Amino acid sequence: MLTSLSELPARKQHGPPLAVLTAYDYPTARMLDEAGIDLLLVGDSLGMVVHGLPDTTGVTFNMMLMHTQAVCRAATRAPVIADLPFGTYLTPKQALDTSMRLMKAGASAVKLEGGVSMLPQIRAIVDAGIPFVGHIGMLPQSVKIEGGYKKKGKTPEQIDLLLADAKALDEAGALAMVLESIVPDVAAQITRSVRASTIGIGAGMQTDGQVLVTPDLLGSYPWFRPPFAKARADLASETTRATKEYIAEVQNPKSRL
Ligand code: KIV
Repeated sequence: MLTSLSELPARKQHGPPLAVLTAYDYPTARMLDEAGIDLLLVGDSLGMVVHGLPDTTGVTFNMMLMHTQAVCRAATRAPVIADLPFGTYLTPKQALDTSMRLMKAGASAVKLEGGVSMLPQIRAIVDAGIPFVGHIGMLPQSVKIEGGYKKKGKTPEQIDLLLADAKALDEAGALAMVLESIVPDVAAQITRSVRASTIGIGAGMQTDGQVLVTPDLLGSYPWFRPPFAKARADLASETTRATKEYIAEVQNPKSRL
């Protein structure tokens, strides 16, 4: 299991693949850390699976800061990556300021969405000595401009753009990059062509690691689960069962112990 981001290049070369999960709160982060997860991601997916927003564009910097602090208090071993939310890295200066605040909250690295178009922001972050993780392919923060969540890498033009984005991130010094919802062969090609570790989600298995939104893994957000996400627990049913049992016991004194 990973103890430092400096181990990423060796893991890319020798394996095993990186197992990455999102975390948003202290108890979950502590359980995942103690279970041996390689990396924790305080993803802005928290807007949807914790705060009930329709997409990630409503996530604020203060939300990210508070959840990052909670996760960092829990993670004593796994490095923590924190997302820069929508609208908080519009200029290099803003990207640096927000990244610095997440680092001071305890994050080990920051992540933002985009490739070539974000190079000035990424350079500002990396030049300041902040470990950086990229995110290319389907970009949830662009859902409104794109009109939905669309798989990437289906056309030669899209493949060229993805390869250019991956190369730009790699050359700018990204330690790792999330490849989200990309045709598996293209994700494999990117993985072979970059020094950074690739972490796939909905991008096939030929990446250097996989990331999942933890409520999808645990079955604690039953109203939506992406098709590639395999639930390995059913916390929603357990919560409903325990709650009904409690209500029945409170309301029916005879059933009380
Ligand atoms: O916000 C998030 O949880 C993410 C993952 C889907 C990679 O960025």
